[in-house]
Amino acid sequence: MGDGTAKLALNGKDMDLPVMAGSVGPDVVDIRKLYGQSGAFTYDPGFTSTASCESKITYIDGDKGVLLHRGYPIEQLAEQSSFMEVAYLLLNGELPNKGTLDKFVYTISRHTMVHEQLAQFYRGFRRDAHPMAIMCGVIGALSAFYHDSTDITDPQQRMIASHRLIAKMPTLAAMAYKYSQGQPFVYPRNDLSYTANFLRMTFAVPAEDYVVDPVIEAAMDKIFILHADHEQNASTSTVRLAGSSGANPFACIAAGIACLWGPAHGGANEAALNMLREIGTPSRIPEYIARAKNKDDPFRLMGFGHRVYKNFDPRAKVLSKAASEVLDKLGISDPVLDTARELEQLALKDQYFIDKKLYPNVDFYSGVILSAIGFPTSMFTVLFALARTVGWVAQWNEMISDPDQKIGRPRQLYVGATQRDYVPCDKR
Ligand code: CMC
Repeated sequence: MGDGTAKLALNGKDMDLPVMAGSVGPDVVDIRKLYGQSGAFTYDPGFTSTASCESKITYIDGDKGVLLHRGYPIEQLAEQSSFMEVAYLLLNGELPNKGTLDKFVYTISRHTMVHEQLAQFYRGFRRDAHPMAIMCGVIGALSAFYHDSTDITDPQQRMIASHRLIAKMPTLAAMAYKYSQGQPFVYPRNDLSYTANFLRMTFAVPAEDYVVDPVIEAAMDKIFILHADHEQNASTSTVRLAGSSGANPFACIAAGIACLWGPAHGGANEAALNMLREIGTPSRIPEYIARAKNKDDPFRLMGFGHRVYKNFDPRAKVLSKAASEVLDKLGISDPVLDTARELEQLALKDQYFIDKKLYPNVDFYSGVILSAIGFPTSMFTVLFALARTVGWVAQWNEMISDPDQKIGRPRQLYVGATQRDYVPCDKR
């Protein structure tokens, strides 16, 4: 590679492939014309070496443990910003001033109510349905209620749909929780912050006043910031792929939610806390580490490892500190946190985890905090989806506005039967 061109020799033919440079990060070899010129495809299952788009939103340096949103380090945003400010930043590209932020918060808070008819959807589910199953259904159903913001060619409608999604997610997530508890739905209140409003809709009951604890509100807001976006991960790529066909934003976010649910992705926070509870006591950790290392055992340490981070996950660092702070402030002593800390220490010293560069990820400590706040494990991935909606809509908007955008249509390496003649059933 050099001088902005990569040389490829294929089937006796030499080809020059352009090399593109970003503002930071690895160069990319532009293979868009490769098939036309050579008749060959590239092969990259899991997209480990493939840039699927150009983006200005989030940058990750996996070796250095760096995560930037629009250039701002995640540690600074988690410590100094608010989820609403980060949402504005991701959507619009710059930090808002006081007036713009107030206007944005006002707009979001005026979209928090959902069509009353949507409550009927919840009643169609079993009470013990997983809340992510409910979320897949009700978010997809939003397109049946908000037709007036489904014309993706109109930037104004795209922005309204984005605001609606960010605003309605807490309401719909809280309703999923309330439904599982057999409690009445709680309507949003516009005088509360985004996060306080969500906590109230989740935990308030009509029988008494609910006062939001500022320690819990701050911890929840930090968790939302840490989950807001993460470059072209599986669910974001799903949203982009769904959107590339021109599907409406509500349908695209429903697709993202379905993808996020998997235990290798957003479902890992639920799986991590369940695993820590199953381990129960630090004395049983070596048994679980041995299982994670055993090739014949499918068990993996949940909340460990990452496709991109090979040094540490900066979000896990922030959350590890926050877990101790929150539990201290709330006066909770949770043996699960002791198990998590011990497991982290033992795994980080183990050659298997060192060799494979496996570190705690964002899902390792978030569950300890969410459980201290009072959420059941089944709600953890819902909270991830609530926060990630901001990243999804930002990435979806960026894609739709990109003049190079095309329908996503990967090809394949076909290894099945070659052409053969049909044999009638009685002759087989
Ligand atoms: N425990 C034990 N071994 C592991 C783990 C783990 N958590 N993660 C990876 N490995 C091993 C894996 O067996 C493989 O070994 P070998 O090379 O001998 O076959 C090697 O490390 C590489 O793993 P991989 O599956 O090829 O790596 P990947 O980049 O495809 O997968 C991952 C990344 C996050 C899916 C994986 O590390 C994992 O399954 N972790 C547990 C689930 C988890 O915590 N997911 C949350 C990710 S962060 C939040 C999010 O994205 O939503």
